[in-house]
Amino acid sequence: MSDQQKMEHIVSLAKRRGFIYPGSDVYGGLSGTWDFGPLGTQLKRNIMQLWWKMFVDERHDMYGVDSAILMNQKVWQASGHVDTFVDPLVEDTETKQRFRADHLLKDAGFDVDGLGLDELTKLVRDNNVKSPNGNELSDVRTFNMMFKTFVGPTALGGVTDQQGEAAVNIATGSELIAFDPSSVSYLRPETAQGIFTNYRNIVDSFYPDLPFGLAQQGKAFRNEISPRDFIFRSREFEQMEIEYFVDPDEWEASFEHWRQQVWKWTQALGLPDESVHELEVPESDRAHYSKRTIDFEFDFPIGREELLGLAYRTDFDLGNIQRVSGKNMDYTLKGTNRKFVPHVIEPSFGVERAVMAVLSNAYTEDEVNGETRIFLRLPEHLAPVRFAVSPLVRNKPELVEKAREVYEILKKKYGAVMWDDSGNIGKRYRRQDEIGTPHCVVIDFETLEDGTVTVRDRDTTQQARVKIEEL
Ligand code: GAP
Repeated sequence: MSDQQKMEHIVSLAKRRGFIYPGSDVYGGLSGTWDFGPLGTQLKRNIMQLWWKMFVDERHDMYGVDSAILMNQKVWQASGHVDTFVDPLVEDTETKQRFRADHLLKDAGFDVDGLGLDELTKLVRDNNVKSPNGNELSDVRTFNMMFKTFVGPTALGGVTDQQGEAAVNIATGSELIAFDPSSVSYLRPETAQGIFTNYRNIVDSFYPDLPFGLAQQGKAFRNEISPRDFIFRSREFEQMEIEYFVDPDEWEASFEHWRQQVWKWTQALGLPDESVHELEVPESDRAHYSKRTIDFEFDFPIGREELLGLAYRTDFDLGNIQRVSGKNMDYTLKGTNRKFVPHVIEPSFGVERAVMAVLSNAYTEDEVNGETRIFLRLPEHLAPVRFAVSPLVRNKPELVEKAREVYEILKKKYGAVMWDDSGNIGKRYRRQDEIGTPHCVVIDFETLEDGTVTVRDRDTTQQARVKIEEL
């Protein structure tokens, strides 16, 4: 099976079995958005809860926050996102369709790392690169990826002129009504800023020892020019981010600490070390705030791509907040008079990319009794369903009653337990294999006699008899 076929099989299984559906599917979809069904929601929650447990609950130096998605526009001015959170865009001069210039050029075999707008345009022109429709391309220009919105009833339909200073008529571009530019806000493109803006609050409330970290999970939004590759590049997704505040003299040790923690995380997701790779990002490709970045890449079926990032953000963010807000961001080192603005190490994890890595790592096809079997070899602690319980046959009330009893016991203990009594037992096994259920428990006539059940293992397909109380 080729990687492309594997990807297609995963997308199809995800939809068919209720993991992930295209967003707004019933209305023809909305590009770059995805809805999680019951099994996908559980898988995603398991991943997010594991992260919270590892990085917040089990540590002594972490504090959780949950900040608002809509923030004062000054946040995004101070952070540099209004000016620099851009991707290079080209337009098909015939169809007016827009594409990411760097993606088009990469797909055409060019190395575009670190190139500016003029250099990208030159590459397009010199090599006569065409749009995927075969038409001429425009010059390359920048496109800000933040979703802009308006807080309060100030703009008509939210359509503004290019400076964002007046509501305009869509057809003519003529001004309709002046409005208060301070009503402009953005859907956050990273959860990080909601952490930085709360740094002072947390220090004042808790006065934590340095180093300490603030952690947040939540939605982020980016108006990606070309969302693609299933949930890999979406316009709405979830992040799990840590801003770890350190003494500037000790940033290297903390960076190394988090590098090791990231490896622990990929191992906890069950990803083999040989499929995860560190990429030291060169200066020309680093985000505007970073002095050092390692991208952790994973061998997805779509190729080797970024799974998560680890960045040294220096005092860039707290320094900007201090400058723009006029509020002091100093930390006074306990037991000393030394004051400084802490520096920051930021491990930043994308939830959807973790889900996609886990699903692609788990997707397996083998042969059982001469037939191809599809199964998800999910780690047990991530599987959306841990046990499926069924009576051997449905038309024996005493078996159904006993099976219900076992189901209730397991449901109370593990939560993630499914009742499954439709079709014959072989079909049930196949269905549970496809969603990655590690154990299928079957209640048969022997159960009524000696209190044992059959437990069938997903990976080996072996069956064993186990006492109910030992499940
Ligand atoms: N606060 C730093 C930050 O946001 P980033 O590298 O732009 O850094 C961090 O994003 C992570 O968020 C990425 O490594 C990826 O896992 C995830 N991510 C970014 N853009 C995404 C998108 N369009 N769709 C899905 N996940 C995305």
